[in-house]
Amino acid sequence: MSPKKHGNDDTGGSVHGGNKLAYDQNFTPQVVAATGPQAHPRMAEIMPSLLRHLHDFAREVNLTAAEWTAAVDFINAAGKMSDNTRNETALICDILGLESLVDEITSKLLIQGANAGATPATPSTVLGPFYRTDAPILPNGSSIVSADAFKLWNGKGDDMTCFVSGRVLSASTGNPVSSAMVDIWLAGPDGLYEQQSAEVPDMNLRGRFQTDADGRYSIYCLRPTPYGIPDDGPGGALLKLLDRHHWRPAHIHFIVSAEGHNTLTTQVFDREGEWVKNDSVFAVKDELLVDFRAREDDDKAKWTLEYDFVLPEV
Ligand code: BEZ
Ligand code: FE
Repeated sequence: MSPKKHGNDDTGGSVHGGNKLAYDQNFTPQVVAATGPQAHPRMAEIMPSLLRHLHDFAREVNLTAAEWTAAVDFINAAGKMSDNTRNETALICDILGLESLVDEITSKLLIQGANAGATPATPSTVLGPFYRTDAPILPNGSSIVSADAFKLWNGKGDDMTCFVSGRVLSASTGNPVSSAMVDIWLAGPDGLYEQQSAEVPDMNLRGRFQTDADGRYSIYCLRPTPYGIPDDGPGGALLKLLDRHHWRPAHIHFIVSAEGHNTLTTQVFDREGEWVKNDSVFAVKDELLVDFRAREDDDKAKWTLEYDFVLPEV
């Protein structure tokens, strides 16, 4: 897709579009009105808006048939590339900031309906395409890093060992929540999630930990490293066309769930890491920046992070 001017645009401002052409004003209302009385209620609510925005966009940029065909090919390629180890369509939504925006909308709706309390709830952020359900449930204090993985990383992980612990708290009371589930996953020091690598053992750097009677969880894992989101598919082609990088700042993913509370999907970001101000998927929030500290007297971890999750009650 090479950018070409349409018609006579000598304003110097616009490459595509810019020409104000006269289009049939009745066209969009006609398409909106085609929705029948038995339409799914939410679809009947949202489709008029989607159709108006979609048609206005096409008119505003003077979208051509060739560009539309390229867009269809792009979406089809993303679908064909997606399977249970890779979700290219979700990745494209991330690149476009759509997952972040939808996450913000969803969390605002949830907080509106939840019992707000004295302790501010931990902000959510995007799930991303690499989550896997059914990570092993492990006792507190165990490690999610396999010994074989350390060998495969050729020493790269050795200085990154990290003890992560904290509490799960209820926003309304500030009290600890016992039997909450802390589901954790992160990429390795090679920049890959375990399902992206044929050699790394299944479920490496993933685990689920239940909080104890004091609402505490504790996990041995790694201090995270920045990594590039996959750029060998349509998502990468899009980044290239937009002259954008593919880096994500170092982060750890969590899903925290507890009875009577809203489930939290979030990430914590290493404040000192690169790309925190320039995340390729726009997922960083100030409240989620954390400080890893050197850990003393523990052979199993060079770093430590203490982090509490605060969940609103349903
Ligand atoms: C992730 O953090 O795993 C992720 C999020 C969005 C796009 C790609 C990866
Ligand atoms: Fe990630």
